[in-house]
Amino acid sequence: MNTLRLQLRFLLPLLVTLAVAAYLAVPLMDRLTQRWFARDLNLRGELVANTLSDSIADALKTPSRGRLAGLFRRAAKDERLVAIGLCSRDDNELLQHTENYPPDLACQDARAAAAMPSPVLQIEGGPVHVGVHQVMSESGPIADLVLLQDFSYIGKRSQDTRKYLIVLITALGAVIALITVVVAQLSWRGWVSGARALLRGEGLIRPITPPGELAPLAADLRMRLRDLEDEYRRSMGLEVPWNAEALRLLLRTKLRGDEVIVVSNREPYIHDRAADGGVVVRHPASGLVTAVEPVMRACSGTWIAHGSGTADRQSVDSHDRLRVPPGDPMYTLRRVWLTPEEEQGYYYGFANEGLWPLCHVAHVRPVFRESDWDFYRKVSQRFADAVVAEARSEDPIVLVQDYHFALLPAMIRARLPKATILTFWHIPWPNPESFGICPWRREILEGLLGSTILGFHTQYHCKNFLETVDRYLEARIEHEHSTITFRRTETYVESYPISIEWPSPEQQASWRPVEECRARTAKRFGLAPGQRLAIGVDRFDYTKGILERLHAVERMLEKHPELIGAFTFVQIAAPTRSSLEEYRFFQERIERLCARINERFGSGGGAPPVILVAEHHEHDALMEIYRAADACLVTSLHDGMNLVSKEFIAARSDEQGVLILSRFAGAARELTEALIVNPYHVEECADTLYQALHMPPAEQRERMANLRQTVREFNVYRWAGRMLVDAGRLRQRQRIEERVLRHSAG
Ligand code: G6P
Repeated sequence: MNTLRLQLRFLLPLLVTLAVAAYLAVPLMDRLTQRWFARDLNLRGELVANTLSDSIADALKTPSRGRLAGLFRRAAKDERLVAIGLCSRDDNELLQHTENYPPDLACQDARAAAAMPSPVLQIEGGPVHVGVHQVMSESGPIADLVLLQDFSYIGKRSQDTRKYLIVLITALGAVIALITVVVAQLSWRGWVSGARALLRGEGLIRPITPPGELAPLAADLRMRLRDLEDEYRRSMGLEVPWNAEALRLLLRTKLRGDEVIVVSNREPYIHDRAADGGVVVRHPASGLVTAVEPVMRACSGTWIAHGSGTADRQSVDSHDRLRVPPGDPMYTLRRVWLTPEEEQGYYYGFANEGLWPLCHVAHVRPVFRESDWDFYRKVSQRFADAVVAEARSEDPIVLVQDYHFALLPAMIRARLPKATILTFWHIPWPNPESFGICPWRREILEGLLGSTILGFHTQYHCKNFLETVDRYLEARIEHEHSTITFRRTETYVESYPISIEWPSPEQQASWRPVEECRARTAKRFGLAPGQRLAIGVDRFDYTKGILERLHAVERMLEKHPELIGAFTFVQIAAPTRSSLEEYRFFQERIERLCARINERFGSGGGAPPVILVAEHHEHDALMEIYRAADACLVTSLHDGMNLVSKEFIAARSDEQGVLILSRFAGAARELTEALIVNPYHVEECADTLYQALHMPPAEQRERMANLRQTVREFNVYRWAGRMLVDAGRLRQRQRIEERVLRHSAG
């Protein structure tokens, strides 16, 4: 129907134009052909007159007109010559004429007719052309010869011409109409297939290029939508106090209860077999889990992760699912099982020996093995299958987490084209040169560009990513909108600084008072009353700057011997990835260093200057240590964000305690009231630690109050909320585009 309407819009004006052209051209053509024929007949008459002139002049010399009559009779045998007359020049007398000469055509009438633009007269036998030509003798003109030539054949010819002209114009019209219809059909099909592609879910990812007349409209629409989005984003900025309730509201309203699926390697609850044969639930030491878990509690949904606990299999149902948190179920955990070889290749190998050092650039060489890469791909496919199996709709919101799943977004996109895929990269993204050493750099980038939104902690990491894509892929990058279009998928790249859940008043009320925490911690580590305490809390990872921190402690004791015996540094280091050589060597190295420092500065009876606790600590135990410390050292050599720094701040409801923070941790961009250090600069770190231990309580309070304000506001619900708001606006945009296209198609 629309096609027909569109074609009629082209055809009607065309047909009207052709009709007008025919209406004007036919009489014009008629007049022109008649004039051409009249001129021909004149020339012909002239010729006849010239031929006859001598004979007429001779015949006029004789008194008898018989000779003249014979001459005219012979001449009139020409089938075109209807009649001939001869007029005297002085008295207009008709001296001689042939039989067919019209009796009422006097000499002066013939002369008048011949002078007309169209010298044609109607006589009995039909139309004749009238020509008057001089008969010349040696002395000059002696008479006028009137020639009446047949004009009826000219009328017939002009009728033929008219017929041809009409046929020609009609044929021309038909050809033009046919071309128009074909072009309209083709372009309409292009438009319709564009609309169909959009309905298939490719609209958001494939920039639609509507044909011809609709192109400016579509471009306009897209621009307007983007402007609205920007306004919307601004309006959803800092003003909203983000908490679990705000996030739930967002999901109910802006996302209309859409399904949320999280995919990560690390699971939020690990069931392990205990020594007594029972089962214990562990919470892993993972910044990712710390951040995503409260979000999942707020939005329900399903979390898909590797089931890594020794008792994990016995705690799931027949679909490998269980409701968590244990005892207070709020969402579903779906476990994916891996063989030891798969875990070795995908997790230890490619993810942690390859991508982890590659992205952290912390002077540990990345190792890339072909077999690890094969497992990485295979396991990604397994998780993609799990996402498809868990999805209850064709367009779920899938939150893909971290460097373990760089390939997952494109794999999910291939199976669920309408899904909104939000990928968050929890670790740094290096510059293009550093990233370039990965043999599968293209595949990694292509996998990530299956995402609808790709998030990093900082703007700097976003910039590195855009530059990396620019260097290694043929993709369209729009810096103004921070989007990358690759193979018709548009990915929005944005920074979303991750954070923690700000403790509720009830949680804060349940904490032990600071003095009690100090007392318990002092007892645990054998600290003397009044002994100063600095802490470090990390996974036992070479990126955390534990070695550099110990050197700083050592240097401070060197410079300030009065602190020997009056100061202790406690390092809590949760064992991690211990089956990797690099991690084992690192742990041994730290242990040796601690022993050396203690040997050097040990004061005999009291607590040693450094205490290394290589054990996993649950959240409550950590809160106690955080609240007991005078200073907390976060000296990562490179860190996406670092949530320990934020946990320490959240724990200090007494507004005391000093945070020393590496400038190479993403957190340094937000937590500007911390003491910012370069972890590689031992002297600077030692001095800063000394400064922290001597900072007046008022200054501590001022700094800590500001830091707490920042973390309270920029909490994890804001992190998730901002991403989901962006997901919502992109889904909205997709729907509007679909609606507009459906409207113009229907
Ligand atoms: C970092 C990564 C997380 C990971 C965590 C713990 O924070 O970004 O993805 O879960 O380290 O590491 P693990 O290998 O024990 O999961």
